[in-house]
Amino acid sequence: MSDREWRERAERVVAAGASTGSKRPATMFGGEHHDAPSHFVRALGCRVVTVDGATLIDCTMALGAVALGYADDEVVRRVWRVAANGSVAGLNHILEVEIAERLCAVVPCGERALFTKSGAEGVAAAVRLARTYTGRDVVVGSGYFGWLDWCSDSAGVPDGVKRDFVAVPWGDSGALGAAVAAAGDRLAAIVVEPVVEREPPDGWLAHARALADRARAVLVFDEIKTGFRLHPGGYQAIAGVTPDVAVFGKALANGFPLAAVVGHADVMEAARHTWISGTLAGEAVALAAAQAVLDRHEREDVCPRLRGVGARMRGAVVDALDHAGIAGVGVEGLDPMWFIRWSDAARETRFLAGAREAGVLFKRGAYDYAALAHDDEEAISAIGQAAAAGFDAVRRLDTEGQ
Ligand SMILES: Cc1ncc(COP(=O)(O)O)c(C=O)c1O
Repeated sequence: MSDREWRERAERVVAAGASTGSKRPATMFGGEHHDAPSHFVRALGCRVVTVDGATLIDCTMALGAVALGYADDEVVRRVWRVAANGSVAGLNHILEVEIAERLCAVVPCGERALFTKSGAEGVAAAVRLARTYTGRDVVVGSGYFGWLDWCSDSAGVPDGVKRDFVAVPWGDSGALGAAVAAAGDRLAAIVVEPVVEREPPDGWLAHARALADRARAVLVFDEIKTGFRLHPGGYQAIAGVTPDVAVFGKALANGFPLAAVVGHADVMEAARHTWISGTLAGEAVALAAAQAVLDRHEREDVCPRLRGVGARMRGAVVDALDHAGIAGVGVEGLDPMWFIRWSDAARETRFLAGAREAGVLFKRGAYDYAALAHDDEEAISAIGQAAAAGFDAVRRLDTEGQ
């Protein structure tokens, strides 16, 4: 059955065509998505095999959930062993304790941890803990924290919920200070993504820390993209600014469903005074994957290697761009999480289509993610060649309108 047929089946039976909004073909590829692949059958290393049998080098790495590589041997072995021995029961699996201990050892704010299945659920748990701990309601946030009601202004979110969340532009100290002042003694938490497309402006995280301290509110860092990618302890280990609570996900379990809320004991123990509970929150398949990831970080310098591999990936794209000599496009971001910024959406979708035809999946917008599995000369040179093909397609669009 062809990809087109799978896509049609999905459109008939999966709401909105895909359960992950970010993986809907129109979101992934923009306007020209009708010939783009929508479903895969195998993902190994940094390569994805589509339903139509094409093998594509993947720079999206499951939206950053996979930093070692798809179906990493060691992760798969651990997962098999735990699955074969029963990964869930009416009691708590011992891996929940081990992984909590190990996270508390590597994360600067870590004294207690709790687990959830998705990043959005993890940040929502952090916010619930902050509200319980402070006895207050208002949350000031800067970044993306997932799809759940508390931080969303999407259709279907009640106005009453929206009133207690104030979004401020990322990196804007003035806006953050004003929102905190307006919240006054109703402020429960400041929640920030420490990195959004670039490292934070000097002093921004320290300013958030000082504002939270002054207001006696909880400072939460959303480290879902940064943890186990920029540093195993999260960006807080790089910035030297320690939040009260941090949330990890994505690379933590190399593609298995796990997020961890890690933080100071006083705030985290507020879990005893509210209700946070998931039937499968402590299931051990994802915890086994995290165990393999933690072991790898202990044995090897995974984050410096991701920086090196990412630099080679983006370097290959920058070289192709220099050679193509087209305007209105640049390569930005950090080496382990970089992206191509386009000034024009139609040119971006044409680039993505041209690169895809040449065998490489780039992400629309942020980010293209490095994985250890991209540490492969063949992959890096394919990325450069596909970028060149994509830029060439854009040049044809520019000059001939086709
Ligand atoms: C910074 C950040 N926070 C939260 C989330 C939500 O995580 P999930 O999609 O696992 O619910 C994401 C997902 O992209 C994220 O990047």
